Amino acid sequence: MVARNQSQKKTSLNKQYQFFSQQVVQWYLNHGRHDLPWRKKVTPYRIWVSEIMLQQTQVKTVIPYFKNFIKKFPSQKKLSVATEDQILAAWSGLGFYRRARNIYASKEIIKKEYGNKFPKEFHQIINLPGIGKSTTGAILSLAFLDPHPILDGNVKRVITRFLHKDLNSMKEAELWKLSSDLINRDDCFSYTQGIMDLGATICTPSKPSCSICPVSSQCLSAFKVRSLKKNKSASKKKVISMNLSLIQTKKSLLLAKNEDESIWKNLWLPFESVSLENYVQDFQLIATQNIKHELTHRRLNINLSTYMSSKESKIQTNQQYKWIKKDRIDEYGLPKPITKVIKEL
Ligand code: ADE
Repeated sequence: MVARNQSQKKTSLNKQYQFFSQQVVQWYLNHGRHDLPWRKKVTPYRIWVSEIMLQQTQVKTVIPYFKNFIKKFPSQKKLSVATEDQILAAWSGLGFYRRARNIYASKEIIKKEYGNKFPKEFHQIINLPGIGKSTTGAILSLAFLDPHPILDGNVKRVITRFLHKDLNSMKEAELWKLSSDLINRDDCFSYTQGIMDLGATICTPSKPSCSICPVSSQCLSAFKVRSLKKNKSASKKKVISMNLSLIQTKKSLLLAKNEDESIWKNLWLPFESVSLENYVQDFQLIATQNIKHELTHRRLNINLSTYMSSKESKIQTNQQYKWIKKDRIDEYGLPKPITKVIKEL
């Protein structure tokens, strides 16, 4: 039984993961930032340069520097003859200059060991200066269409929110596993670019745009937010309390037409209990119940006492009332929660 539950859990988890990876790809194809310069023309060299620039700098800042760098050094081969000074000059203004020195050191290795061809094996890429596991994953997925996970701040936020996990209490290894499990292996290019764009434009650190997010229908955090909002708006509703008395014989019910300018104007209701004060001793109390009912802007709290009467007594009140046969109740306008109680009698 335990094993079955676990395998069921795994299957639904797989479905949720599959949904995520398919949606991210679809969303990227329809709404992704396709005009970013490193996405328009894709080569391992351009992907490498852009990923290094994007390590510590935002997309909009990187764009002009990337264009300028590529103009000066359009290919791996052209870069291979550049001096460190020339590379630093092209990097000038972008900051974190260690990245430029690492570009220089890497291109020397690529020249000597790989004949100016950017390497495509995981261990070769991760051993280049300034390249960690996430940048390796991005280069492999984007430049070589070889699916590998990435794990930057945006991705951590998107995936832990989707599964409503506490980022701070998760180990890096768990996050890597999650990132790897979610990859779309059929289109790792769109998936990887998509999850980056989702984190940067929709699933932002504050005020995420869940209403336009492609994965929000299965996102456990969006679900929690939706239920919080629902509870919040429900608790703001005005509460209306009513004490009603329903008198019945075997075949009939005594109902009064509500003429108040209230929510149920002109509908038929049990009597307000106060108006029956002088009569209740003639009836036998058979049940009391509390009915809660939500309207759009009101929350109703109804205390209903049900009495049995031996005959269809006449009552002197200022309310217009009627003994109505139980089997003809549908011919009268009654509010829904009252109809429900009557049907259950
Ligand atoms: N951040 C890191 N890599 C990126 C990419 N390829 N596109 C957009 N943002 C990124």
